[in-house]
Amino acid sequence: MQDNSVTKTAKLTIDGKEFDLPIYSPTLGPDVIDVRKLYAQANVFTYDPGFTSTAATDSSITFIDGDKGELLHRGYPIDQLAEKSHFLEVCYLLLYGALPTALELDDFESRVTSHTMLHEQMMYLFRGFRRDAHPMAIMVGVVGAMSAFYHDSTDITDPWQREVASIRLIAKMPTIAAMAYKYSVGQPFVYPRNNLDYASNFLQMCFSVPAEDYEVNPILSRAMDRIFTLHADHEQNASTSTVRLASSSGANPFACIAAGIACLWGPAHGGANQACLEMLREIGTVDKIPEYIARAKDKNDPFRLMGFGHRVYKNFDPRAKVMKQSADEVLDLLGIHDNPTLQVAKELEKIALSDPYFIEKKLYPNVDFYSGIILDAMGFPTSMFTPIFAVARTVGWISQWKEMIEDPAMKIGRPRQLYCGATARDYVDVENR
Ligand code: SDX
Repeated sequence: MQDNSVTKTAKLTIDGKEFDLPIYSPTLGPDVIDVRKLYAQANVFTYDPGFTSTAATDSSITFIDGDKGELLHRGYPIDQLAEKSHFLEVCYLLLYGALPTALELDDFESRVTSHTMLHEQMMYLFRGFRRDAHPMAIMVGVVGAMSAFYHDSTDITDPWQREVASIRLIAKMPTIAAMAYKYSVGQPFVYPRNNLDYASNFLQMCFSVPAEDYEVNPILSRAMDRIFTLHADHEQNASTSTVRLASSSGANPFACIAAGIACLWGPAHGGANQACLEMLREIGTVDKIPEYIARAKDKNDPFRLMGFGHRVYKNFDPRAKVMKQSADEVLDLLGIHDNPTLQVAKELEKIALSDPYFIEKKLYPNVDFYSGIILDAMGFPTSMFTPIFAVARTVGWISQWKEMIEDPAMKIGRPRQLYCGATARDYVDVENR
């Protein structure tokens, strides 16, 4: 982990008593005040519901500058990776900290490829779900159940088993997501094909049928690969923090990733891509936009503009910028011109970004605003949008999990609270209540 050398000291005075708190400086971003000894020294907790100002860990994987709208993976800007790299190379970068040589990349890709099939017995798990089950419900269940099938990679104290579990999860998530989709549409499962690249393989597992040949459209597989890259990792977001907290108890990696999938599902997080496209469809036409903007601004209306706003980005989400270009490209190359949903999205973005409410609250389109338009054009139902996010984010969850497990200072996460409940009182028998 980073060498936390004290650069400055913060002085805290409570009831006339002064406490010195060490301050560490990161390579990028704000300094941090170390409050680990505060409770022991001053008998007080810090208070930060939602962790808006709390650094829960050291990390060297991803850095976001919310004001500049910058996203770095091991120092490499996301727009360069999206343009010049590809998803499995980004996976290597996130996992091992450096861009691979050609030989290292070839070895990594063949290791992932040789783990793409799912244990045959796991097919029966899918049959336990209703056909109309949300694919995210299936993914939470099936990924968690991997703990019951891959016993030789659940011991987190064994580096070799950790490595195998990481490769298995990256390799099998597309297979599981595709199976969840096939199950929902009543089509037979399609096995992975090892002669295809990661994104092409996912598309063929989703859209090919035994009754005819299937040619992967290179435009779609390039767009699919780029969508995976744009969703790969994002610092200590809610689902990553869930994976870290679950892993801190020593739970096996499959159970922890299942917890991350469950958290990602929420509409405030990874579920926003599905909610955003459904919102754009509900708006339907450009003339309806003002009504929805008014609702988003109305304090008494719980409606929020899905795909807008972010805890960290107070400027454009760089991923949204790349996604917007990609949406234009893909629709154009597919010959889908004046797509009504894309028109509504662009007009909504334009109107919102000139509205004082959104300007003042620094609300910009996030990664979920345009992704749904591309996925929809590819033929995915909205219910598959968040599973695709989960496929991509698995490498981020695993990389952060690996970083935490390998940290000798790791301890179980256990936040405290500001208790505002009843003080101690005696039990009252029911006849006396
Ligand atoms: C992801 O953390 C990550 O990195 C996540 C992610 C990743 O890659 O892992 O980037 C992926 O989850 C992207 C976000 C997807 N979610 C959505 O698009 C849902 C809509 N967005 C909002 O729910 C909201 O913006 C959040 C949840 C994303 C962020 O919420 P915060 O940081 O807790 O901000 P907030 O809710 O305190 O809002 C601040 C103000 C509030 O108004 P006030 O109470 O100050 O008057 O802005 C308003 C909010 O009402 N606001 C919105 C809004 N988002 C915030 N108003 C209308 N529409 C919105 N979308």
